Amino acid sequence: MANVHNPGRLRLGVNIDHVATIRNARGGEHPDPARAAQIVALAGGDGITVHLREDRRHIRDDDLIRVADATGLPINLEMAATDEMLAIALRHKPHAACIVPERREERTTEGGLDAAGQHNRLAPIVARLTDAGIRVSLFIAPEPHQIEAAMRLGAPVVELHTGEYAHAHGEQIAIEIRRIADMAALAAKNGIEPHAGHGLTFENVQPIAAIPQLAELNIGHYLIGEAIFIGLEASVKKMRLLMDEVR
Ligand code: PXP
Repeated sequence: MANVHNPGRLRLGVNIDHVATIRNARGGEHPDPARAAQIVALAGGDGITVHLREDRRHIRDDDLIRVADATGLPINLEMAATDEMLAIALRHKPHAACIVPERREERTTEGGLDAAGQHNRLAPIVARLTDAGIRVSLFIAPEPHQIEAAMRLGAPVVELHTGEYAHAHGEQIAIEIRRIADMAALAAKNGIEPHAGHGLTFENVQPIAAIPQLAELNIGHYLIGEAIFIGLEASVKKMRLLMDEVR
């Protein structure tokens, strides 16, 4: 999601996977993630994020094409570092690919990628994606050694995992915000564009959105959940407003 028009703006990537989760609960075609992508565009979202999981539990291969065709928004493909996903990314050429850890038994992406420990596995994947013109992002815990590993891998973007922040209570909340802010600053200082995401809600988004180095937030589950009550357009618009308020 290159931001050529307004470099100061914090972009909102909306993860529409869980529209597909609801569709898949019954089979058939409703609700359609491609329609969701169009509404996200109308509501001021800056990009569409989808996670094609190995087990295809939400987004399916054909959704990738239909979602990309349905909107002019850039597509950010979240993918495990596997040969299968690499081949799919190279075939579809999304604007960006965010490499995430993936375990079949997890409910969602629970931790960050071990970019430091998996250098040799990740290096060829980062290189192949980059050579294809896909902007690579690594979904990592907000830790210095992970940023350093991202630098060694030559990744232009890191997405800082905000799950620990989202689950924190009491004094731990401020500690987590500081950790994310410090790592966003460290990444930016070293020429890496920092993004953030996971577990963000209307209630907890603003301290993260206020971190000046962050260029993009990726938000899914909460927005789709709120859409049940207030509609997807209103849900995205409200998140956009909350983000803009602190910029
Ligand atoms: N960013 C990444 C890399 C993710 O894996 C996810 C979850 O799929 C998100 C952002 C969005 O998280 P949530 O659905 O909790 O908003």
